[in-house]
Amino acid sequence: MSVTVRVPAKVNVQLGVGGLRADGFHDLANVFFAVALGDEVTATAGGPGTGVTLSCTGPDAEAVPLDDSNLAARAARLLATHHGLAAPDVHLHIAKAIPVAGGMAGGSADGAAALVACDALWGLGTPTEVLLELAAELGSDVPFALVGGVALGRGRGEILEPLPVAGSYHWVFAVADGGLSTPAVFRECDRLREEAGTGSADTEVRTPDADPALLAALADGDAVALAAALTNDLQAAALSLRPALAATLRAGTEAGAIGALVSGSGPTCAFLAKDAESAEAVAAALRASGSCRAAHATYGPVPGAAVAGGA
Ligand code: C5P
Repeated sequence: MSVTVRVPAKVNVQLGVGGLRADGFHDLANVFFAVALGDEVTATAGGPGTGVTLSCTGPDAEAVPLDDSNLAARAARLLATHHGLAAPDVHLHIAKAIPVAGGMAGGSADGAAALVACDALWGLGTPTEVLLELAAELGSDVPFALVGGVALGRGRGEILEPLPVAGSYHWVFAVADGGLSTPAVFRECDRLREEAGTGSADTEVRTPDADPALLAALADGDAVALAAALTNDLQAAALSLRPALAATLRAGTEAGAIGALVSGSGPTCAFLAKDAESAEAVAAALRASGSCRAAHATYGPVPGAAVAGGA
């Protein structure tokens, strides 16, 4: 018996970063946007005593850890523990399309997908609120991968409020060689703030708010206004750690993208295009520019993790 779940990647159309909290996290005003570029996680019942096992296919498969640190494995165990099930026997296969350590929450997406897949495989019927709580335990970006669409994430990103959005938007993602560590990018953001003399603690940095112009653009389905409102407070830190990303951003803009920014903590760069045809042209120009390893045209918003099939 097996269950396959499809799950989207995210781009942050606004990533407002507050000061460093005592618990090591930063308060965010984080507008998540789910895109069709996504992974598939298939959960298959394992024989008695096999435990939780993992496999992965896709262009970045060798960069995916197949040990207990993988969020999909941790999700399966957490769900089992929550229901008082002793040592689960399940194989999780990840068909990976989301860039690894790319700032698109690929690992978080697999964690969310594994929760949904194991819940269905084991016939648990866990209520959505409980799945969201378990997701928040796994990581700040995991709850959004369950919800999808467009949502404002507060706290460390796990307190979600779905946002109204009209229309469909065309995106291009430029994948870099190698990933960036999310904690390292947050640390660099703090360091740059200290260097600039503004301070980095939550007592010194104003708690960010969602930008009303951005929310209005989304509600109106206005891609040009959304492009003008795109912001990412981690972008300077990602560029500081990976200066070559400036050339990637420039190449996409020169090819006609109406908006460009680093996706989350990077190093993937995200471009908003005015229509599907322009998105294909921007992706082709990025590939030809040599400033990225791959470029994918896609669209959004799309729903969160959902069962796509079973056997
Ligand atoms: O929650 P998650 O495990 O994805 O976070 C990874 C790391 O990213 C955290 O340990 C922290 O260093 C950083 N982070 C942060 N503020 C957030 C979310 C993540 O500083 N709101």
